[in-house]
Amino acid sequence: MDSFLIHGGTRLKGKIEISGSKNSSLPLMAACLMTDEKTTLRGVPRLSDIDCMIRLLTELGCQIQRHDSSNSSTGGPPLDGPLDIQVTKEVNNEAPYKIVKEMRASICVLGPLLAKRRQAIVSMPGGCAIGDRPIDLHIRGLRKLGVEFRWEKGKIIGEYAGRLKGCRMYLGGAMGPTVLGTINVMCAAALAEGETVLVGAACEPEVIDCANLLNKMGARISGQGTPEIRIEGVDHLAGVEHRVIPDRIECGTFILAAAMTNGELELRNCNLDHLIAVHDMLEDIGIRIERENDTIFVSSNRRLNPIEVTTQPYPGFPTDLQAQLMGLVCLADGMSVITERIFPDRFLHVGELNRLGARIRKDSSTAVIQGVKELSGARVMASDLRASAALVLAGLVAKGKTIIDRVYHIDRGYEKIEQKLNAVGAHIERLEEKDIKDL
Ligand code: EPZ
Repeated sequence: MDSFLIHGGTRLKGKIEISGSKNSSLPLMAACLMTDEKTTLRGVPRLSDIDCMIRLLTELGCQIQRHDSSNSSTGGPPLDGPLDIQVTKEVNNEAPYKIVKEMRASICVLGPLLAKRRQAIVSMPGGCAIGDRPIDLHIRGLRKLGVEFRWEKGKIIGEYAGRLKGCRMYLGGAMGPTVLGTINVMCAAALAEGETVLVGAACEPEVIDCANLLNKMGARISGQGTPEIRIEGVDHLAGVEHRVIPDRIECGTFILAAAMTNGELELRNCNLDHLIAVHDMLEDIGIRIERENDTIFVSSNRRLNPIEVTTQPYPGFPTDLQAQLMGLVCLADGMSVITERIFPDRFLHVGELNRLGARIRKDSSTAVIQGVKELSGARVMASDLRASAALVLAGLVAKGKTIIDRVYHIDRGYEKIEQKLNAVGAHIERLEEKDIKDL
């Protein structure tokens, strides 16, 4: 397992190219199961989660080819490299436990498989470091379209005869809308008979991106990005080309990194509209952001104000930036309060940030952060994707050296993060855990 050795005291300055969205790429790749023709996705990032989805789609009968990367426009590492996906056989309809346990987002093959093959067998995804990850809303929505489910040895088996039938349904849950649940039901409805209306649908940009891909393929979807999505079922979907939207969470992470280090970053391939709540909050804490088309200029040269934030479904402040924001406000001038409404247990980063000298107290799904003058380097452990990003940001500003163990977590969702950060002034070394000497 690799670790990062980070020499703190960096002011980030320079240009970073944002990669394509991980959380959009995964459902887009799954949607390619719904056509017999070749689909080309551009801007799919090189991440371990994407590799996992490539393995899964290969098991499900797809041939997948990744073309070479093009040089980055910022002098950073080469990114992109189009991905060609084509179904060549439809004999295996099972997403096996060995893959699903590695990446619970494998669940996003459920809707496409049912739509195209009338059968899907997916291992129950189980929980993860950020909490229980139920799929009851996925099942409820697909059942309303006519899918019959049964459970066997930890697997969900969904199947039906004939054709799914569209209907009007409410898809929200106690914790609000479901992103992948909305996408799963939207995919299934795209090839169903008649009209489906999803009320209480998720509004995230990743839902919009998937609906836009399906429409390019021949689907008839409207209302994506609003809580009510209409889908007029069609008989056939074609293979097309599509560019993935920029990764708003990677972009938000680097915005916070610039703020934390009192740096100046020029971020390319961004869509600030996808970060409206973050943009609004950043101005309150004293971070300047300017925008020129798909480029963002972010800088800060002062101690930041404390903030009160609650994570919410889109367009609210995203839960996937909660840990990184907590890292930032560890150094704010006063007391901040962060409440987690989507995954109430998503606080494994608190203990690790406190090891770096932060003063954070957690009480149920709320954390109170008393700003300190500085953090100091220590050995810490990554626990999940976004918590590990928060630890990298903290390591950049902590005095002395910080070691972060188990950085495989960060490789799931941040393409070449140490190359991108080192190109703008960071000093991060990736070492095998056995080569790391204790601090
Ligand atoms: C997506 O997960 C993202 N993952 C998550 O990003 C993100 O945190 C989450 O949306 C919320 O924005 C991908 O897109 C691959 P949900 P998803 O269904 O769709 C509850 C990251 O770090 N719920 O929108 O699985 C659930 O427990 C990852 O990149 C049910 O109760 O999340 C949660 O409280 C982490 N029943 C809330 O809804 C269900 O059937 C939102 O979950 C489904 C969800």
